[in-house]
Amino acid sequence: MTDIEKPFLAALNGKAHKHPPVWLMRQAGRYLEEYRAIRSNVSGFLELCYTPKLAIEVTMQPIRRFGFDAAILFSDILVLPDALGQEVTFVQGEGPKLEPVRSLSDIQKLSTNWIYQRLEPVYETVAGLSSSLPKSTALIGFAGAPWTVATYMVEGGSSRDFATVKGFAFEKPDDFQVLIDLIVEGTAEYLNTQIENGAEAIQIFDSWAGVLPEDAFDRWVIAPTKKLVSLIRAKHPSTPIIGFPRGAGLRYPDYVRETAVTAVGLDTTVPTKWAADNLQNHLPVQGNLDPQILLAGGQGLDDSVNRILDNLSNGPFIFNLGHGIIKETPVEHVERLMDLVRRRV
Ligand code: CP3
Repeated sequence: MTDIEKPFLAALNGKAHKHPPVWLMRQAGRYLEEYRAIRSNVSGFLELCYTPKLAIEVTMQPIRRFGFDAAILFSDILVLPDALGQEVTFVQGEGPKLEPVRSLSDIQKLSTNWIYQRLEPVYETVAGLSSSLPKSTALIGFAGAPWTVATYMVEGGSSRDFATVKGFAFEKPDDFQVLIDLIVEGTAEYLNTQIENGAEAIQIFDSWAGVLPEDAFDRWVIAPTKKLVSLIRAKHPSTPIIGFPRGAGLRYPDYVRETAVTAVGLDTTVPTKWAADNLQNHLPVQGNLDPQILLAGGQGLDDSVNRILDNLSNGPFIFNLGHGIIKETPVEHVERLMDLVRRRV
């Protein structure tokens, strides 16, 4: 099967299909017992990301179980700050903890010099997957978008109101720009090397794009993503890039036009008819079932999946969730979802 015949890549290339390709954000993870079994045998989450044999195995688990059209590299957006020299740990039940970067002198301690060496195991995982996936399954590489990665680096972990990172960006924009530029440079190298090792498409996760007012959205979401896209295209002009500016709302059209991403991920709040008329007429779209609806199951799941399919299957479309799968999701609900998308029921 040539690349273009992989259904996921065909959709990214602009082809519509009445049975659209499907994968789910965070499809590898704790909702799978086979993932939990492997996770319980490693001391930390980063160890799992940096052990190619295990990372390959957990990437393959959901492919074997559900037959998704794409596999996403098993890693995390926070390996990049780790590779830049920031201390990153994952505390079970509490999420990520980072030694916060809050001044120019904190930023100056970081460097892109260590990226290749530190992220070598991730590249090895990509190469291993590229030679072991089923022929029709595409391999997605990924990274966090500069703004979203910066929120974790400055806040020191997850945040409720983003007060610290917004304070930094609004009070010292020139210093914050130094951090963003460093992340752009490091992420471009990281993604280009993933492509060189076999990633066939790239997704840029901007999970917190939706928290910024308009000028800041232009400067910290659109501009750095545009730069990142251009640095990838300069080396790999034909690799499709999916942007996922979660929560971008009315800014979705500006985001796709200005960043020039190949395709765009819709979050759960984007109305699908609107997306068909205003986004899908320009580029392939991906999304956007609410993970909470997948968790709930029942008639509501059937109705929501069918509505998304009805509204988006007339153009280039990849079925997905509008955010990552929730760890309590029953696997039977994912099986039902696959039956609905593949129109087996
Ligand atoms: O299957 C896949 O999608 C590939 C792997 C993947 C993970 N994280 C594994 C993971 C991907 C693509 C991500 C992206 C990611 N990581 C994002 C962007 C998408 C989003 O969800 O908004 C963000 C913001 C992160 C940062 C992150 N990683 C947080 C906040 C947490 C803790 C919260 C949580 O869900 O536990 C993680 C940990 C993480 N990343 C886990 C997994 C499977 C769970 C950790 C574990 O198993 O102990």
